Amino acid sequence: MVQVTQSSKVVVLTGAGISAESGIKTFRASDGLWENHAIEDVATPYAWERDPELVWNFYQGRRNQLQDVEPNPAHRALVTLEKFLGENFLLVTQNVDDLHSKAGSKNLIHMHGELRILRCEECHETFDMMEQEHLTSEYVPCPSCHSQRLRPHIVWFHEMPLQMSEIYAAVEECDVFMTIGTSGHVYPAAGLIDVAKQAGAHCIGINLEPPMNYDQHDEFHQGKAGELLPDFVEQIIS
Ligand code: APR
Ligand code: ZN
Repeated sequence: MVQVTQSSKVVVLTGAGISAESGIKTFRASDGLWENHAIEDVATPYAWERDPELVWNFYQGRRNQLQDVEPNPAHRALVTLEKFLGENFLLVTQNVDDLHSKAGSKNLIHMHGELRILRCEECHETFDMMEQEHLTSEYVPCPSCHSQRLRPHIVWFHEMPLQMSEIYAAVEECDVFMTIGTSGHVYPAAGLIDVAKQAGAHCIGINLEPPMNYDQHDEFHQGKAGELLPDFVEQIIS
């Protein structure tokens, strides 16, 4: 097992699996996503254009769910790792929930956006909007330019993930790269491990099932993140 010192540079990539034990469904679970909607029916700009009401209500459901979920031991273990490494730690999440920040993670990039945030398509401003009045089936107008409806600040299929240059810069110089709870299906996130490997990083995976990019991992631990990660972090930093 790899040892991490305070000067090791570590980048962690998380996916839906890390929030599963908090009660949020993963994307590719056999029980599907949300009331029989395929991801593509609600998570593309075309869906928003064609049926904004459906897409809005879908995301309002998920935004409401944030009020009932709490971080689990896996989210907290990553806070322990960040406290040990300080500036040398970067957490990149594909998750749009707020459980990493709720747990206390600071150096965090939400590459696929955030449920808490709404964005104006006219003036491009973003707003953290989680008051009760923002969580109904009514559209929320832009407080800045007064356009009629904000959209979810979510990176949909066919859209570019956020802060990619920062992410690539960190991955290119990391010593250890970890993937946790992600199936390795969705690019560019699934390809970050290739960048890490090319940069000579030691690549570790923790996942319930072997992910698509399993072969790229130098070390793989199969199981639930909430059960494995707390001990794993204690071991690598001690
Ligand atoms: N602990 C660890 N891994 C788990 C757990 C758990 N408790 N529960 C499930 N998993 C694993 C599953 O085995 C699966 O490999 O987590 C992975 C979740 O995979 P996906 O549902 O495909 O989620 P993710 O990889 O985050 O999806 C990527 O796809 O739909 C888009 O934008 C969306 O960010 C999302 C992206
Ligand atoms: Zn606006």
